Amino acid sequence: MNMNEQLNTYKQQVEEALEGLPFAGVPDALRDAMRYSLLSGGKRLRGCLLLAACEMAGGDAKAALPFAAAVEMIHAYSLIHDDLPAMDNDTMRRGKPTNHVVYGEALAILAGDGLLTHAFSVMAASAHPKAFEALGEIAGAAASMLNGQTLDVTMAGTEPNMDLVRDIHQGKTAAMLTAPVTAGLILAGASAAQIEAGRRYGYHLGMAFQIVDDLLDIEGDPDLMGKTLGKDEEEGKLTWPACVGVDWARQDAADHIRHAVGALSAFGERAAFLQQLAQATLTREQ
Ligand code: IPE
Ligand code: IPE
Ligand code: MG
Ligand code: MG
Ligand code: MG
Repeated sequence: MNMNEQLNTYKQQVEEALEGLPFAGVPDALRDAMRYSLLSGGKRLRGCLLLAACEMAGGDAKAALPFAAAVEMIHAYSLIHDDLPAMDNDTMRRGKPTNHVVYGEALAILAGDGLLTHAFSVMAASAHPKAFEALGEIAGAAASMLNGQTLDVTMAGTEPNMDLVRDIHQGKTAAMLTAPVTAGLILAGASAAQIEAGRRYGYHLGMAFQIVDDLLDIEGDPDLMGKTLGKDEEEGKLTWPACVGVDWARQDAADHIRHAVGALSAFGERAAFLQQLAQATLTREQ
C-alpha cells in the first residue's frame, strides 16, 4: 500500500468510529449540533496520526480507535469554538456554514463543550491497559491548545514577534498534533525513548502544519480549503509569514519537516508512512 492508500484506510477507520458514537442521553438539538461538526469531513489527520504511530511501534490500531476518535472530537470542539464570533468570527468551515451560523451561538458553545467532554468519556470507557496514560497526554495537549488560542486572540493586532508566534503555534496546533503520536506510541507499549522521538516528530510536524495553514490563508484556494481565507491579515493575527514573510515561512516549514522526518529515524522502515505524511504537509492544498 502506498502512503495515500494507507492514509485512506486509517481515515475510513476513524470515520467509522466517529459515525458509531452513540451520544446516549444527549438531547436531539445538542446531538445534532455535535454531529454536524464532527461528521462534516476534515482530513482526520490527528486520528490517522494516532493509529499510524500505534502501528509503527507494533501496537494494535483497532484497540487504539477510541483514542483516535477522541482526538478528532477534541479537534472538532476546538474548531467550533475557534470559529465563534468572539474568536475568529468565521462563517465557513470544511466547506459548510460554521456551527454557530447553523445552530446559533449557545448551541455551538454547548456542542464544543459536549465534544470535549464526551471525548474523555470515550477514552475512559476503553478497557485499554494504557488508557490512563494516553488520556493524560491528550488532556495535556487540550490544555496547551487553550494557551495558544489565548495568545492568538489576545495578541492580535500587536507587532509581529517571532518568540510569541512560536508559542502560539506550539500551543494552538503543535500540541494537538503531538499528543496523537505520543498517545499512539503509549498505547503500543513503546519505550520512553520511542515516545520522546514521537514527541519531537509531532512538535515539528505541528509547527510546519500551522506555518502552512498561515501560508494557505494568504495564497490558498478557498474552495479547496473550505474556509474564508485572508482573515489572518484582516484581523492582525500573529502568523509566521507576518513575522518573516512568505518565502522564509516556506523555508521554515520545510526545516521543521526535515526535523520531523529525522526524529523517527530509529524506527527505520516502519517510520516510512509518518515520514511521507509529514513531507506531504508541505505541499498540501487542504
Ligand atoms: C485546522 O486543522 C486548524 C488548524 C490547526 C490549522 P485541519 O486543517 O487539520 O482541519 P480539518 O480537520 O482537516 O478540517
Ligand atoms: C486554529 O488556528 C487552531 C485551533 C482551532 C486550535 P486557526 O484559527 O489559524 O485555524 P483556521 O485557519 O481557522 O482553521
Ligand atoms: Mg484561530
Ligand atoms: Mg480560525
Ligand atoms: Mg488559520
